[in-house]
Amino acid sequence: MKRELIKDVLKAAQVDSDVTVAGWVRTRRDSKGGFSFVELNDGSCFANIQIVIDATLDNYKADILRLFPGSSIVVRGKAVESQGKGQTVEIQAESVKVLGFCDPTEYPLGKQRVSFERLRELAHLRPRTNSFGAIARVRNALAYATHQFFQNQNFLYVHTPIITGSDCEGAGEMFQVTTLDSEALPRNEETGQVDYAQDFFGRPTSLTVSGQLEGETYACALGNIYTFGPTFRAENSNTRRHLAEFWMIEPEMAFADLADDADLAEDYLRFLFTYVLDHCEEDLAFFNKRVQKGLIDTLKGLADSPFKRISYTEAIDHLEKADVAFDYAVEWGIDLQSEHERYLTEQVFKCPVTVADYPREIKAFYMRLNDDDRTVAAMDVLLPHVGEIIGGSQREDRLDVLETRIRAMDFDPEDYWWYCDLRRYGSVPHAGFGLGFGRMVQFCTGMHNIRDVIPFPRVPNNAEF
Ligand code: 4AD
Ligand code: MG
Repeated sequence: MKRELIKDVLKAAQVDSDVTVAGWVRTRRDSKGGFSFVELNDGSCFANIQIVIDATLDNYKADILRLFPGSSIVVRGKAVESQGKGQTVEIQAESVKVLGFCDPTEYPLGKQRVSFERLRELAHLRPRTNSFGAIARVRNALAYATHQFFQNQNFLYVHTPIITGSDCEGAGEMFQVTTLDSEALPRNEETGQVDYAQDFFGRPTSLTVSGQLEGETYACALGNIYTFGPTFRAENSNTRRHLAEFWMIEPEMAFADLADDADLAEDYLRFLFTYVLDHCEEDLAFFNKRVQKGLIDTLKGLADSPFKRISYTEAIDHLEKADVAFDYAVEWGIDLQSEHERYLTEQVFKCPVTVADYPREIKAFYMRLNDDDRTVAAMDVLLPHVGEIIGGSQREDRLDVLETRIRAMDFDPEDYWWYCDLRRYGSVPHAGFGLGFGRMVQFCTGMHNIRDVIPFPRVPNNAEF
């Protein structure tokens, strides 16, 4: 259907033009003067457009008076300057065709406000609300900006597999992929263990937790690459910042060290903040007013100022000196908890903080061992409110050290033979990171819970829709 987007009609410098728009009715109001006013939204922008419908229209009684929130219509008419306050352009309808009526006694998104929690149970309808329309547009802008940022710098977009045979993070939080019948598993006669030789891939496989290992193979041939795809973690974390299925962006740079990695992370984050400020003005204004006061100022501040960079050891010093009773006791060697990350970003530095050189024991096997032998060249970027947004590192590029690290995790270097080959044949220093896309959307919208920034959240005990 040839139609104009409401966002373009509202912006049009030229009025008195013929337009066709289509969308869903938000409200209808009937005036005594023989008109009805319909607020119409088509998702192209936050704002609705007002449709003025004259009672003399043929189908006024039969159709227009039966339009309730949620009905879908196509309107042909003239875009004219609006008489009403707070709007620029309205449409004087010449014809209104109803595509689908919507029963107001059954539609769950009537006039009353519906909580975010309830909307999760209505995930198929929630994009019709102001909040979820705005979230979808911000999410889209951040995805587009991501490609722009990396493409501008000649990073190559690589698609890494979703089904994999290796556990990148070594945390064992993998969802198994199998075609074996769970009621009748084939077993090895001698050992009694499941015989994966009979499985689809002839070996155990899982959904990927990260595309990094495969991404490294391309970086170690083509220079700078990035991935942008779904990742899966079977960690039983029922928090407001964990999903079992989330999207990650993972750049990987050859001929790069941890400082290069931190520079890239900072540039990328600032690019994203600037981009949403420039392209999602109306949606951000909504979040700023209704979801998180001060959001726009926060984003502006971050877009303009450098981040703080400290070492893990310095971070622990700050936390030990803190006049705060943390739930989780602080000592050198612990993994930083959300409360610690928030204290550093919100109380101590009041800005994003990049923490580097973590204890080797708490980080993955692939991170480059530092000369002190007890820390690795890892970095996490922490943001106020959401905490860890990025995890990255310089990769271990020395074959012997890598094999020792793999064994120390009780893995078999044989299982990582292809990953080790990168170090065997023309090894180069290289580094990269992963940015959790959901957390980024959460941060830029001020939404409290990550379940509300992805269309269909997957979390423990929930994979509806
Ligand atoms: O720190 P992580 O585990 O790092 C990696 O996976 C590395 N392989 C990345 C790399 O170096 N290429 O995860 C990266 C980011 C985290 O900082 C966080 O923002 C996000 O992914 N993340 C999650 N987001 C939502 N739900 C979860 N369960 C997440 N787990 C990690
Ligand atoms: Mg991490």
